[in-house]
Amino acid sequence: MSLDPINLYDYEERARMVIPHNDWDTIEAGAMDMFTTRRNRTAFEALTLRPRFLRDIGDVDISTTMLGEEISLPVFICPAGSHLKAHPDGELATVRGAGMSNTLMMLSTGSNYSMEEVSEAATGPLWFQLYHRGYDLTEMLVHRAEEAGFKAICLTVDTPAPSPKERDLRNNYQRTHELANFRGVDRPQSEISGTDETPGWQVSRTIPLTWSELEWLRGLTSLPLVLKGIRTAEDAHIAVESGVNGIQVSTHGGRQLDMTMGAIEMVPEIVEAAKGQAEIYVDSGVRRGSDVIKALALGVTAVGIGRPLFWGLAVNGAEGVHGVLELLREEVNRAMAYCGQTSVKDLESNLINIPNDWGPNRMAP
Ligand SMILES: Cc1cc2nc3c(=O)[nH]c(=O)nc-3n(C[C@H](O)[C@H](O)[C@H](O)COP(=O)(O)O)c2cc1C
Repeated sequence: MSLDPINLYDYEERARMVIPHNDWDTIEAGAMDMFTTRRNRTAFEALTLRPRFLRDIGDVDISTTMLGEEISLPVFICPAGSHLKAHPDGELATVRGAGMSNTLMMLSTGSNYSMEEVSEAATGPLWFQLYHRGYDLTEMLVHRAEEAGFKAICLTVDTPAPSPKERDLRNNYQRTHELANFRGVDRPQSEISGTDETPGWQVSRTIPLTWSELEWLRGLTSLPLVLKGIRTAEDAHIAVESGVNGIQVSTHGGRQLDMTMGAIEMVPEIVEAAKGQAEIYVDSGVRRGSDVIKALALGVTAVGIGRPLFWGLAVNGAEGVHGVLELLREEVNRAMAYCGQTSVKDLESNLINIPNDWGPNRMAP
């Protein structure tokens, strides 16, 4: 038997053995019944590949770009808070692992190392994921991100209210690690973390941000703006009309609102609505190289992984994150070869079978 993990699920199994119970629960949990978390996977499974043979696949190129940033495979690290849950080097290890695989990392507002510390350790491109924390704190974060060399701002829009996981409520889960981007900021914890964090995690504590304030946000920086969490063609329309540069389709790993479709199912209508005016990315439920090819075949530029970064981190720090990404690289390469494709930037149409009821058919008339 091989001692090294041979797929992402091996990393998951091993991580479960080393991450403390309550931290494990909060990483793996989805909202409520976890229907959407499961559907992220079943939706990928509903797409099937159409392999093509007897072609020259000697020279396969899976490198691509995200808003001009070169990445060696079409997979990036999603923003996720508190990497100290999985490894003492936290986000410093994650960014090193991403760099070893020559790909991009999005750093969460809720990181345990500050954006300046992470930038210092980075060898690859970094984007800053922004949670709006009120005008002055958001302005402070955006200016610091630009100063620290981050290449884009990725505003997460899909958490208008805190959504405690039921496992966290049962475990009475308490955040213990520092939110390093707010070090020295003299504000109540609720303003910094965006939630009340009493057992009920009161909704009233969240700070609203609306479409009309996007212009204000854009005015703070010359960095490109990506919206993370868009789930409908209607919002994608408004996003491109507002001039955003990228849309990251996501269900937040099913961690916020339960009972939506899987993220990959939302991609066709959003690609259609964006009409090439913004790059499209997707995350939620990506576990195999074939998932990556399926997403790219639907018009996505690159895909993100969330929970698997914690698995890699817990198993072997930076090397583990690198290991997770390299397994995906191998699987993407294999899927490309089996589908007779030589470039991820130029995938043939008809590469996948799409269920009849996906895409624009689902949109309201
Ligand atoms: C423990 C954890 C923390 C997360 N924190 C954030 C965050 O701070 N900001 C954010 O935009 N998304 C956050 N996410 C969501 C991820 O960016 C991503 O959308 C999701 O994990 C992708 O699904 P997957 O875990 O199935 O790969 C978090 C996810 C996890 C698992």
